[in-house]
Amino acid sequence: MKPRLLDILGASKLILSAPMAGATGPDLVAAVCNAGGYGVIPLWNRPAEHASAAIDELKALTDENFAVNLNLSFPYEKQLETCIEKGVHGVSLFWGMEATAIARAKAGGLVVQASVGSADEARIAADAGADVIVAQGWEAGGHVWGQVSTMALVPAVVDAVDVPVIAAGGIADGRGMAAALMLGASGVWIGTRFLASTEATIHEVYQSRILQASETDTQWSRDLYDVTWPDAPHRALSNSTSRAWADAGKSASGNRPNEKEQIGERPNGDPVVRYQSYTPLPQTAGNVEAMSLWSGQGVALVRQIMPAADIVEEIFQDAQKCLQTGASAL
Ligand SMILES: Cc1cc2nc3c(=O)[nH]c(=O)nc-3n(C[C@H](O)[C@H](O)[C@H](O)COP(=O)(O)O)c2cc1C
Repeated sequence: MKPRLLDILGASKLILSAPMAGATGPDLVAAVCNAGGYGVIPLWNRPAEHASAAIDELKALTDENFAVNLNLSFPYEKQLETCIEKGVHGVSLFWGMEATAIARAKAGGLVVQASVGSADEARIAADAGADVIVAQGWEAGGHVWGQVSTMALVPAVVDAVDVPVIAAGGIADGRGMAAALMLGASGVWIGTRFLASTEATIHEVYQSRILQASETDTQWSRDLYDVTWPDAPHRALSNSTSRAWADAGKSASGNRPNEKEQIGERPNGDPVVRYQSYTPLPQTAGNVEAMSLWSGQGVALVRQIMPAADIVEEIFQDAQKCLQTGASAL
């Protein structure tokens, strides 16, 4: 028998708020954890020396378990050591597979959550000691590791490993959660829906586009927003940048329209250039519409800004109802 996800996470609801670079801060993670879910905070996108303070800030907001998200294609070792020193509950590792990172995290007492895009990767991660596998389908928003849809990926991964599997990508409401559980997932990892939470730290222009977008409004691309993070496929809302690029024949990096043009400024005054991989924050200035507005295909289900705790509760209640009524549908 597989170990139970609830026991591993120590949460009461099988809903995880996905790490979302600049969009997920301590407030969002704490709200999800305090509502019975489990939050994952990205720290790979901050200087290593800020990791400790961010963990302290989050610990002051919740006594519940949470995980720190680290990106294996950027230096992660210092942040991992900080997580171990601070006695963080879990670590979520994405964008690659490193058995040494899994082994170090395990030896340091962390619960390891490994993100994968195929059953083969899941087997490798589980063999290396991962406690939980996150199967991220192609529908997902932000950087997307694999190319298999959630519907096909989740059962393949569930069959491949003896550890709990969390489904990610395109899950935005109770129906999606119920479906993921029916595919054999033990829990859900939700990103785009939480962009419309009161705690998400994103610009209002970005948030209002999320509320209006349909399921056909996102675009997966191998290299559109590649400045600062090359060779990393991603999904974002179509916008003036993606349309101009498409009109120009989707030319290769270095030959795209208005390459290197500054289109805005970060809150600290640093420039944001066209094609930069960047999550616009509330205080980002400039042409926010033209920036990388990460979003999954489930965006059509996101119509209202709500407190994160209410999102957790609504999804939990609706999934329960779906599972009860679904049984009589056959
Ligand atoms: C704005 C945004 C930023 C993201 N940043 C990260 C990140 O820092 N680390 C990570 O592992 N995944 C990141 N992702 C992917 C999410 O963790 C998750 O896999 C995805 O949102 C799930 O699909 P959904 O958006 O359809 O719910 C990001 C997604 C979004 C929408």
